[in-house]
Amino acid sequence: MQYAFRGNRRFLGVLTAGVLAALLALSLGSGAAARTRSHAKAHIGANTVTISSIPWGSVGGKAVRLWTLTNANGMSVKITNYGGVVQSIWVPSKHSGTTNVALGFASLDDYVNDFQHQPWPASGGSGDTYFGSAVGRYANRIADHSFTLDGHHYTLVGNNGPNNVNTLHGGPNAWNTHVWSATEKTSTNSAGLQLTTVDPDGYNGFPGKVTVQVTYELTSTNALEIHWRATTTDPTVINVTNHTYFNLAGEASGPVYDQKLMINSDKFTPTDATLIPTGQFASVAGTPFDFRTMHAIGDYILDARMPFGSQLTTAHGYDHNWVLNGEAGKMKLAAVAMDPASGRQVTTYTTEPGLQVYTGNFLVGDLVGTSGHIYRQTSAFTLETQHYPDSPHHIGQAGWPTVVLNPGQTFTSATTYSFAW
Ligand code: GAL
Repeated sequence: MQYAFRGNRRFLGVLTAGVLAALLALSLGSGAAARTRSHAKAHIGANTVTISSIPWGSVGGKAVRLWTLTNANGMSVKITNYGGVVQSIWVPSKHSGTTNVALGFASLDDYVNDFQHQPWPASGGSGDTYFGSAVGRYANRIADHSFTLDGHHYTLVGNNGPNNVNTLHGGPNAWNTHVWSATEKTSTNSAGLQLTTVDPDGYNGFPGKVTVQVTYELTSTNALEIHWRATTTDPTVINVTNHTYFNLAGEASGPVYDQKLMINSDKFTPTDATLIPTGQFASVAGTPFDFRTMHAIGDYILDARMPFGSQLTTAHGYDHNWVLNGEAGKMKLAAVAMDPASGRQVTTYTTEPGLQVYTGNFLVGDLVGTSGHIYRQTSAFTLETQHYPDSPHHIGQAGWPTVVLNPGQTFTSATTYSFAW
């Protein structure tokens, strides 16, 4: 319950500031009182989130910018239209100041180099990290780089696993390499960016031209809200996620072993040797996958002796999908993560049925991040809200929410990362 308490405390903090401002206004003369009141109003009632941007280079002749969203509590989020990347998330702390809690790179060139030029990690490097990016059209893996829909068999471009047997995150050069068109959005108590791109019919083998929109908004109450919409010209499959790697003690502050995690899930989907779900929904009870009660990420990550412990050696850590409790399509609690040292925490809510938590297992120390430090295994964890991996091979099966999108339908998805400190 600590997270609820902390959320309330922030709310109380805002309230207290308002009450103090009102008392101060009353104790001053009338002109000064009016000025103080309007100042207080600006911080409590009106839109206190600002948006600004700078040019950030170009890719393929298309201009890229870096936007900054900042709220009155000292939180800010930087987003670029290259790959729909959340480049950094700056979160205050009572004890240790404001720090960036998202892994990323300092320059556009570093993103392009990682997203467009890095082969599958089997070749020895960290591979494409997808740091902070908008992932699609099918986030996570599709086995055997193929699937069948309405009687048609589609062969995709493989980019993951031995001999590139599987298709990961939409295949090579997918949405995280697009320069998205961007529109700024401001509303009462939030500011954000609406990004749009088009995934051509047949790209990487997927049927249908998909038009997709992702909106990122920072609110005055410290939430990063993400909304997706997509349409298609032909029946296809779709699965989207944001691929932020979190380290609540600060990007490049070391391993996340001591950071705590609660996942609102009783079951997970064990995988085969190429990280494709076996089709089983296994109870987390008594396994290293039991995060029903908040505990440190490092508690069982090295314990291969527990039931399903061998899953940790296969994936080199956590790289698994949890089946979230609650209904797919309805907003619900997915996870709470917190750093006991700084008190920073992030609570995840989503309409998605699954959560992929990945502990940066493929980071091998060959990438220099935003602040000039090297990233390694367990430098971060992801909270990738999504449908279950390889769902295109379970179309119509009980327990597997559909990933099929037909012409005339609008795909929607929402996820909120709500911060407190
Ligand atoms: C994750 C995936 C990992 C790894 C990572 C990107 O979503 O589950 O296995 O591929 O993306 O490097």
